[in-house]
Amino acid sequence: MADPNFYDVIVLGGGGAGLMCAGVVGEYGKRTLVIDHAKQIGKKILISGGGRCNFTNRETPPERYLSANPHFAKSALRRYTPDDFIDLVNAYGIAWHEKTLGQLFCDTSAREIVDMLLAECAKGDVEVRSACTIFEVTKNGNVFAVTTSQGVFQAASLVLATGGPSIPKMGATGFAYDLGRQFGLKIVEPRPALVPLTLAGDEALFRDLSGVAAPTAVACGKARFEEATLFTHKGLSGPAVLQVSSYWRHGDAIAVNFFPDRAVGWLRQEKRNRPKTTLNTVLAEGLPTRLAEALCERLVATGPLGEMADKSVQAVETHLADWPFRPNGTEGYAKAEVTSGGVSTAELSSQTMEAKKVPGLYVIGEAVDVTGWLGGYNFQWAWSSGWAAGQAIGTT
Ligand code: FDA
Repeated sequence: MADPNFYDVIVLGGGGAGLMCAGVVGEYGKRTLVIDHAKQIGKKILISGGGRCNFTNRETPPERYLSANPHFAKSALRRYTPDDFIDLVNAYGIAWHEKTLGQLFCDTSAREIVDMLLAECAKGDVEVRSACTIFEVTKNGNVFAVTTSQGVFQAASLVLATGGPSIPKMGATGFAYDLGRQFGLKIVEPRPALVPLTLAGDEALFRDLSGVAAPTAVACGKARFEEATLFTHKGLSGPAVLQVSSYWRHGDAIAVNFFPDRAVGWLRQEKRNRPKTTLNTVLAEGLPTRLAEALCERLVATGPLGEMADKSVQAVETHLADWPFRPNGTEGYAKAEVTSGGVSTAELSSQTMEAKKVPGLYVIGEAVDVTGWLGGYNFQWAWSSGWAAGQAIGTT
């Protein structure tokens, strides 16, 4: 009789990437086991997108992913596209809608995505073991052995899909990096990404604006995002700031444009049109009152616009379009939506996600040094990389 603890493939981690991969492999008739230490499978999917899971984006060009090798993600993203995932969602009759910027969400609940992935796994008789602690992983010859709280399981292929350490209180760990290192794989330094930034010193005064949001454009180096900024009790957040946080490094300044839609010279035009109006009034027409007041205080500009020299008006406009903040840090993994860095893409085949120097070992999802923008890009990477590995394992 065949050893019941011997599988064709063991997938470590039952998140988006692991479940997608297991479902694909299972349908090829391979005996597949998913192991997760959490009691509940797919937790991050369940809380994502405010409980509605922003499961993909209409467009996922490689430029919207950060990686030491910007070309790496291309192959998987081209072979398993947002349309492929939408077809799957439609096949399960899951209702969805498009929000801003091509972001697709479930109408009802993220639970439907988890149920769909589990149903795909069930089609191929994939076995899922939750609340299963992994003690050790070894490779003897061509066989991987995983020692766990529920027994020792063996397989010819091992898929590392345990994600990154963002939101540890949900069971996220740096396990993928430890295991990667154990097998001699290089790890690109992991950092919290899509994370709020903190302010200190004089800029900490902005924390008084906690809860105020405004439409902005925020830039860090060449990265620029036109979305909302939210002031928090620790510093800055909101989609524009989360997006630039992935590009931000300690010591960098970020620049906020509080009037991204206004044409150059707009404030001088206001001065000509309405010389008796104060700067505060003009700013409060485009921004929340408390923010307008705080900016005016810092610009030290009181009195009617008509009493300001053109040069000063221009200087104020320039400052409003390029307001520098120098964050002193991030809110860390506790608040980061993802982790950038991870298992180096140089170690993996972009076609199959298999480790070049460890045949049979595959790394997928957030564990890999590929990090998407905010807006469904990270789940698409989980689906695409999971599918690519699943195809490769299924057809060997
Ligand atoms: P994921 O982290 O999902 O799965 C890893 C699995 O491995 C988990 O089930 C975990 O329990 C398990 N595991 C970890 N360590 C283990 C160990 N030592 N032993 C055994 N099991 C272990 N993205 C997006 O595109 N749209 C969105 O709407 C959102 N929203 C969002 C909200 C919040 C609050 C967060 C924190 C993140 C998002 N994301 C997102 C990001 C997205 O959730 C993330 O990129 C994917 O879930 C990554 O999928 P993976 O399968 O790679 O890892």
